[in-house]
Amino acid sequence: MKAQDPQGFSQLDAAGRLRHLITLAGLDGDLVRELLARAQHYVTRPGQVPAHGKDLAGFTVANLFTEPSTRTRASFELAAKRLSADVVNVDVMLSSRVKGESMLDTIYTLQAMDVDVFVIRDAQPGVTQYVAEHVADHVSVVSGGEAHLSHPTQGLLDALTMLQFKGGFRDLVVSIVGDIRHSRVARSAAQVLGILGVGELRLIGPDELMPDAHEFPGAQRFSSLDAGIDHADVVMILRIQNERMEQARIPDAAGYFERFGLTPERLRRARPEAIVMHPGPMNRGVEIASEVADGPQSVIRRQVANGVAVRMAVLSHLAAARRSRG
Ligand code: CP
Repeated sequence: MKAQDPQGFSQLDAAGRLRHLITLAGLDGDLVRELLARAQHYVTRPGQVPAHGKDLAGFTVANLFTEPSTRTRASFELAAKRLSADVVNVDVMLSSRVKGESMLDTIYTLQAMDVDVFVIRDAQPGVTQYVAEHVADHVSVVSGGEAHLSHPTQGLLDALTMLQFKGGFRDLVVSIVGDIRHSRVARSAAQVLGILGVGELRLIGPDELMPDAHEFPGAQRFSSLDAGIDHADVVMILRIQNERMEQARIPDAAGYFERFGLTPERLRRARPEAIVMHPGPMNRGVEIASEVADGPQSVIRRQVANGVAVRMAVLSHLAAARRSRG
C-alpha cells in the first residue's frame, strides 16, 4: 500500500499530515524528516529524566498486539504515557477475541470507550488498513508491525539511529543481513532509506531467505557476508523469522552462524567506524555473536531508546493533526 492506494485509502489527511500510519511507502521526505526531527527532540541521554509532555492529554491509546512483542508494545505504552495519554493494553489472548468476537467488534467496543489511537500488531496482511478504513473519523490507527510487510515505526527509529551516528544518508552504505524475505523490518528500512536517499543498500543472505526479485528495487544482492559488508557504514542484522516458515525450511542454526553470523572477525570487513544494528529480539550465536552485540560498534540499545522517542513523535504528530482538523 502506498500513502494513497488505488482503492482510495489514504493514511494522510487533506493537509498531508498523518491520520494513520500503516506504511512508510509513499510518504513524503519532508514528512519523514519532520517526524525524525520531532523524535530527536524527545531523545534523552541514558540516566537523564526522560522527556515528558502534555501533547496527548485527554487522548486514549489502545495497544492491540496479536503477535508477541517486548520493544514495540512497551515503547508505545511509555511514549503515550510520557505524553500524558491514558493507555489500555489489550492482551488479545485473554480478550473476548478468543470467544469469537471479531477484530472490528473489538475495535468498536474500545472506540465506544473513547479510544483515540489504536496501535495494532497482527500477523495477517491488511488488518491494520482494514481497521483504519472502519474507525470513526477522529480515530487513528498505527501499525506496530504487520505480517512480513511493514513496521513503520521501526523503520523510523532505524533511520533516526543512522542519522545520529552517521549524520546523513546520501553517502551511506547500508548492509541488511539475514532473513530479509520474511522481514517487515527490512521492508520498512528499505522504504525509509529510499525516501531519504541512501547511497547504497545491500541485501545479504542465503537464497531461500532473499525476497522476490521485484522487491527492494535498486538494492544489490549478495550471498556472501564478507562481500556484502565490505566497506559498509551500517550493518543491520536480522533474526530468522522461524514463525513465518514451514519447519522444513528453517535453516540449521549452527550452519547459519557459520555462513552468516556476524563475528568480530567478519565485522572487520566493514568500515572501522561502522555501526551494528539489530531490531531485536536477538538470537545470540545464530545471527550475531555476543562479542559484536555487546561490542563498541553496537548501537542496538540506542535503537531501543530511539523507539520510545519515535513513537512519541508519531503520537504527538497524530494528536496535533487531529487538533488542527478540529
Ligand atoms: N523490534 C521489534 O519489533 O521488537 P518486538 O517484537 O520486541 O516488539
